[in-house]
Amino acid sequence: MTVRPRRLRTTPAMRRLVREVRPHPADLVLPVFIHEDLSEARPIGSLPGVSQHPLSAVPALVEAAVEAGIGGIMLFAIPSVRDAEGSAACAPGGVLNRAIAAASRAAGDRLVVMADLCLDEFTSHGHCGVLDADGAVDNDATLEVYAAMARAQSRAGAHVLGLSGMMDGQVAAVRGALDAAGLTDISLLAYAAKYASAFYGPFREAVDSQLVGDRRTYQMDPANGREGLREAELDELEGADLIMVKPALPYLDVLAEVAAQSRVPVAAYHVSGEYAQIEAAAAHGWIDRRAAHLEALTSMRRAGADIVVTYAALELAAWLEESR
Ligand code: PBG
Repeated sequence: MTVRPRRLRTTPAMRRLVREVRPHPADLVLPVFIHEDLSEARPIGSLPGVSQHPLSAVPALVEAAVEAGIGGIMLFAIPSVRDAEGSAACAPGGVLNRAIAAASRAAGDRLVVMADLCLDEFTSHGHCGVLDADGAVDNDATLEVYAAMARAQSRAGAHVLGLSGMMDGQVAAVRGALDAAGLTDISLLAYAAKYASAFYGPFREAVDSQLVGDRRTYQMDPANGREGLREAELDELEGADLIMVKPALPYLDVLAEVAAQSRVPVAAYHVSGEYAQIEAAAAHGWIDRRAAHLEALTSMRRAGADIVVTYAALELAAWLEESR
């Protein structure tokens, strides 16, 4: 035997030397849920350790993220009142836009403030876009609403807009609208390959989702890998500054190929159901919680993600610091 790969695994120091990826707190983005009706935090049952927060908590949440050294936060918000058009998404006084303003004021240039740009939290029917007369999601009418929402989020102070609605042409429409308004420095994170996934389950509780049915006419079929590459390529051509694959672990093949073909930074979203799986198994004592979260993060980074969006961001950052 001439080749013995185990030589490089003999000691912790040797393993550290040859390690291919080293996740860092700065890679991490924490999703944050703000609920307009709350005056104190309300835990989300299906996402242990994650809560819906009142608007007043935004500065403290930003401070915790800065303190942990993570790269950014991704804001989601739940409005008191919903309607068919999702009007609260575009109103400057809407809860998400107020949360963005508070977060960017608190953050300064210490943390990247991202905002979810999608209508599902704001529509009475829970779809990511507006509906036509037959009740189908109207792609092109939705683009106009996204453009208005993008202007409102940018004026509120968002640094990055997370286009998660999976409408065709959404990146070009939003880029065009922002540039026309002189908002040329706002970056766009395109949820390029976003699959219609069962792993979004707990998120529906996190945002009090009103959805009946599914999103299969706009989110992608889990069976399609090549289509994910096409979506990513289109978004890059339309001007996306960053692109994302979502969910993460069931789609590491797509993530790896997108990272290989793409010339912009690539993010992966370790979604609610992926997080909840680890939490539930750990609560039963069936897996080591910390080791599982760290392994999930390492796997996403190894597959090619530069940025990882995860509900465990603050804890992961602390663990990474500890193990340095
Ligand atoms: C849509 C959106 C969803 C998630 C993020 N943005 C829900 C969906 O597409 O149904 C899911 C995130 C998660 O499950 O953690 N605005």
